[in-house]
Amino acid sequence: MRASSKKKVLVFDSGVGGLSVFQEIHRLLPYMDYLYLFDNEAYPYGELDQDVLISRVNQLVSALVEDHQVDIVVIACNTASTIVLPSLRESLSIPVVGVVPAIKPASLLASQGVGLIATPATVTRQYTHELIRDFAQGKPVELLGSTRLVDMAEEKLRGQSISMNELKTILSPLRDKVDVAVLGCTHFPLMKEEIHQALDGEVTLIDSGEAIARRVKALLFNQEIEESKEEGAKKIYASAPPWEEDALNVCLAKLGFNPVQVYRHPGVLDR
Ligand code: DGL
Repeated sequence: MRASSKKKVLVFDSGVGGLSVFQEIHRLLPYMDYLYLFDNEAYPYGELDQDVLISRVNQLVSALVEDHQVDIVVIACNTASTIVLPSLRESLSIPVVGVVPAIKPASLLASQGVGLIATPATVTRQYTHELIRDFAQGKPVELLGSTRLVDMAEEKLRGQSISMNELKTILSPLRDKVDVAVLGCTHFPLMKEEIHQALDGEVTLIDSGEAIARRVKALLFNQEIEESKEEGAKKIYASAPPWEEDALNVCLAKLGFNPVQVYRHPGVLDR
């Protein structure tokens, strides 16, 4: 028997990006228990071999689900979700929600063109190209894959400032070509304001966070939650000690998390 009647939500990413999704879920469901797991040992996922990525996500997520009796998993990483969901859903008996680029809503809104800002891996994935083929409504889609942008969000969450000049240079291929851009990496909503400014305030930015939160709510409420009106626990685990750990913990505390702990499970990732 478990002590708490609260549902446990596991949010997973390679780094801090999934916290943007956590924030949206928490806004809608403040009284759940939250676990956040990030695979920083293999970061960045946008440059990781596909087979390694699939194996790591399956091992880490399955082990944590077992250790903590998780009720629902959110793969808050576009780079992982575009390849890992089928195997994960097959091996777990709980719901698994994935985040993928919001091409459809962005295309419905765009009149000129759609930008997809994501990781180098996400812009090359077959899954992404099928989304574009099926949902871009014939609008031109400009692909922009950048790991540096992901790093900038990691830096921001350690209290470092973002160089607007650098951001403008990275985003310059989208200028004058698109009126809507998809934030197709969960790290990017963490610097949505800066990206908006770097695109001269003229591009509407769309991400999947809110839609994911609604999906999680629908799935959990199907399971008849007994909701107590008290904030639940928020624990955060990493696959390795994070860099600038103290600075990161300051930001995590503001989101209600305890300091990061390194996650170990016998047999996982051959440790
Ligand atoms: N946050 C992740 C995503 O949504 C990926 C970041 C990385 O490259 O590790 O794709």
